[in-house]
Amino acid sequence: MSGNRDALKKLRIQFQGALTTEELGQTTRWLNRSPSTNTHARAWADAGAPHGALVFADHQTAGRGRHDRTWSAEPGLNLTVSVILRPGIRPAQYSLITLAASLAVLDTIRSNCNPVSSRIKWPNDILVDGKKCCGMLLESVIGTDPAESFVILGIGLNVNQTDFPDTLQNTATSIMLACGRPVDRSQILADLLGKLESILETLEKRPESIATLYQKEMEGVGERMTLTDVHTDRSYEGVLRGVDEAGALQMEIESEIHSFHAGDVRLQTEKL
Ligand code: BTN
Repeated sequence: MSGNRDALKKLRIQFQGALTTEELGQTTRWLNRSPSTNTHARAWADAGAPHGALVFADHQTAGRGRHDRTWSAEPGLNLTVSVILRPGIRPAQYSLITLAASLAVLDTIRSNCNPVSSRIKWPNDILVDGKKCCGMLLESVIGTDPAESFVILGIGLNVNQTDFPDTLQNTATSIMLACGRPVDRSQILADLLGKLESILETLEKRPESIATLYQKEMEGVGERMTLTDVHTDRSYEGVLRGVDEAGALQMEIESEIHSFHAGDVRLQTEKL
């Protein structure tokens, strides 16, 4: 146990040495073990944690994914973190944080590794060489006063894991598998927060630019896809056309463009 504590302390010190942000990651909680960093962060935000506060767990025991799925990550090898955001945008624009965070993770992977391909699968799965390397879970709380509103951005980034359970073997990957060497988690996390801070600044100043940047990195534009409505289980087939300025998916179905929101549908590409 004290070995784990020492390793975590070392990681924290290296992270603090590498961090270049003004706000993100300046207030932190480092947990050896937590059921879910998003759940922990939510309680901390309710108790007044500042913008940019970060929760890190070295072992997440009940990680939560989108659409009530679970998120599992081998302890001590990956990043399972949540960032509390109190951004200077209207709650109606919060969906753009999904797009901005995807761009920040993509940029981090590219600058720390040189994968053959790296793309974003809408809304916020990061695919590296065709497999999922990162998933994100955004949970927002909208208060009556905008100052009471916040977003919990949960990021599960596979960093040094090389073995995955049988069910994920063909669909999951990590930065280490893509670049053939172990990578420093503290460096990746500091870098990611720097990139996230910078793109959130762009989002506040020029929100209309985010969807354009995102669409350039999107997997499968122009290809046939299947979408499933998670409420009705109904499936739709069509051609993926991109996202609108608010980040809603644009699908051409029988010659008409339809918009879908991230909480309502699951998108199946050929591979995932
Ligand atoms: C998904 O792809 O379904 C989203 C996965 C999000 C996982 C991260 S790990 C850190 C944070 N805490 C959680 O319980 N979930 C998110």
